[in-house]
Amino acid sequence: MIPVGALSDIPPGESARVQGEVAIAVFNVDGELFAIDDTCTHQDASLSDGWLEGCAVECPLHAACFDLRTGRPSGPPAKKPVRTHRVTVDDGIVYVLESSDVDAVAGAVVEEVS
Ligand code: FES
Repeated sequence: MIPVGALSDIPPGESARVQGEVAIAVFNVDGELFAIDDTCTHQDASLSDGWLEGCAVECPLHAACFDLRTGRPSGPPAKKPVRTHRVTVDDGIVYVLESSDVDAVAGAVVEEVS
């Protein structure tokens, strides 16, 4: 688990950035916390610097919107989803559980090989 900081430092409508294997952005949407990879999949922009619109964040560079629940972009110019990560709060401290590449992309199809 990666400590992000005090929950009180991320009030509703705000975000925080923490370094995991890559930078991760944590958003507080009306008291519900979401974490996604911080770097836009289109170009090198920090999504934690973007604008929250409901449960989506708009990239500050070219305005692609990413759903914070799934990581999927709503449309161009971004085409690939960002990874999503679990967030927990323990004793007022926010933690991110960084996803592996395999299970991070919401909706990804995992084929079982028998
Ligand atoms: S860098 Fe995010 S949409 Fe272009």
